[in-house]
Amino acid sequence: MKAHLITYGCQMNEYDTHLVQSQLVSFGADIVDSVDEADFVLINTCAVRGKPVDKVRSVLGDLRKQKQKRPLVVGMMGCLAQLEEGQQIARKFEVDVLLGPGSLLDIGQALESNERFWGLQFKDELHGHIPPPPAGRLQAHLTIMRGCDHHCTYCIVPTTRGPQVSRSPDDILRELDLQLAAGVQEVTLLGQNVNAYGVDGGARLAGYPSFADLLRLVGQSGVRRVKFTTSHPMNFTEDVAAAMAETPAVCEFVHLPVQSGSNRVLRRMAREYTREKYLEHIAQIRRHMPHAVLATDIIVGFPGETEEDFADTLSLYDAVGYDSAYMFIYSARPGTPSYKHFQDLPREVKTERLQRLIARQKEWSNRKNAEKVGTVQEVLLRGDAHESGFLEGHTRGNHPTVVPKAVGADGAGIVQVRIEHATPHMMYGRILGEGGQPLPELPRFTPESSALSSPLQMA
Ligand code: 5AD
Ligand code: SF4
Repeated sequence: MKAHLITYGCQMNEYDTHLVQSQLVSFGADIVDSVDEADFVLINTCAVRGKPVDKVRSVLGDLRKQKQKRPLVVGMMGCLAQLEEGQQIARKFEVDVLLGPGSLLDIGQALESNERFWGLQFKDELHGHIPPPPAGRLQAHLTIMRGCDHHCTYCIVPTTRGPQVSRSPDDILRELDLQLAAGVQEVTLLGQNVNAYGVDGGARLAGYPSFADLLRLVGQSGVRRVKFTTSHPMNFTEDVAAAMAETPAVCEFVHLPVQSGSNRVLRRMAREYTREKYLEHIAQIRRHMPHAVLATDIIVGFPGETEEDFADTLSLYDAVGYDSAYMFIYSARPGTPSYKHFQDLPREVKTERLQRLIARQKEWSNRKNAEKVGTVQEVLLRGDAHESGFLEGHTRGNHPTVVPKAVGADGAGIVQVRIEHATPHMMYGRILGEGGQPLPELPRFTPESSALSSPLQMA
C-alpha cells in the first residue's frame, strides 16, 4: 500500500499523524509525498474553527473525483471525524475510513475491513501506545495527556477529544528515552492543558507527578531543551514557574492563552479567571524568569464583544507586552454553548478588530525582537533555509532564526548565535565559535555574483 497523510490543526494532530503513520509503516505501507502516488489518502482534521473544516470539504471533493477514475481509499481522522458534522461530510464525500481522536489504533482493523469503517470510540490502549521516534529529526512532540476538562463556551475540543486523561509517567519517560536514543534534542510536551497533568476530572492520580515535577523529571533526562504547550491560566501555578526557572533544559518560553482582556467577555467564555488574575500569573512568571518569552492566543469578536471590551483586549496586550500571539476571529462552532446561546457579531466588525489587533501585535513583536539584537541566543538549527547559503532554526523562545552557513559549523544542531538584525517575524545572526567570536561565513555563490554557481542554484 502507498499511503499519503495530510495534517490540519495543532501540534497534537501532528503527533497523531506521526502515530498513525508509524502504524501504517509497521503494516508494510510505503509513505508517499503526493496524493497522485497514493492508493490510501488519510486526512487528519481540525474542527476548532470553520476554516479548517471548509478546507477538509474541498480536499475531500477533489479526492471523490479521483476515486471515480482509479482505486483509492480515502480516510478521515482527528477532531472533525468525531463530530456529527464530520460524519455528514464523510457520508457526502464517500469517505471509507473514519477514525476519531480516540480510535487511532483502529487503523489496522479499518484497512482490513472490506467495507466502510467508522471508529469513534475512545480506547484506553491509546495512552499506553508508544510510537517510534521521528526518524532523523532533532525535535519531537510527546503527548502527555489527551482531552480537556475545561468547558470554554466557544470550544469544540471537549466534545471531539473528550475529558482529560493523563498518560502514565512510565509511558512518557519510555517514549522520551526512545526519542533521546534517536538523537532528539528538543522535546515539546503536548496536551490541551498540560499544567493540569496528573489531575484528571479534578482528582490527583496516585503515583503521577505534578506537572512541575514532570518538568523536572524530563529536564533531568539529558534532553537539551524542553518546551510544552498549551496551558490554561488557571492551572499555571507558581510551582510550574519555579520548576521552569530551576531546570536548565526547560526553555523560558510560556504560551498562555488569554483569549480576551475583558472580564465581561472572559465570563461569557467561562474562562474561570479575570483579567487581574491573569496579569498576576504573568507577574509571577516574570518574577521567576525575568526574561521569559511570552506568547498567547486571542479570540476577536466573541459574541457580544463591544468596542469597550475590545479596547480591554488591546490594553491587556500592552500590559503584558507579548512577544507573539495567535489571533483568531471567533468562529461559531455547532455543538458549543456559545453557538447555541449567543448571537454572532457581523463579519466586518470582527475582521476590522482583528486588523487592529494584528497591527498592535506587530508593533510589540518588532519591539521585542529588536531588543534581542546584540544578544547571544541558543539556536537549534534544523538545516538549509529557503535562501541558499543560509541555515534556519529557532531559539529557546521559539523565534525563527536564520544564519549564514559558517566554516566549522554543522548544518543541524544547537549553536550559539549573535543576533544582528530582527523583523517582527524573523531574527538574523551569526554563529559563534568556542571563543564567542563569529565563525567565518562560508562563501556564497549566487548566479549573479559568480560563474561558479552550483548546478543546484541554477536549476
Ligand atoms: N473560534 C475562534 N477561535 C477559537 N479557538 C478555539 N475555539 C475557537 C473558536 N470557536 C482558538 C483559541 C484556542 C486556539 C487553539 O484556538 O484561541 O486557544
Ligand atoms: Fe487540535 Fe483543537 Fe483542532 Fe482538535 S480541534 S486539531 S485539538 S486545535
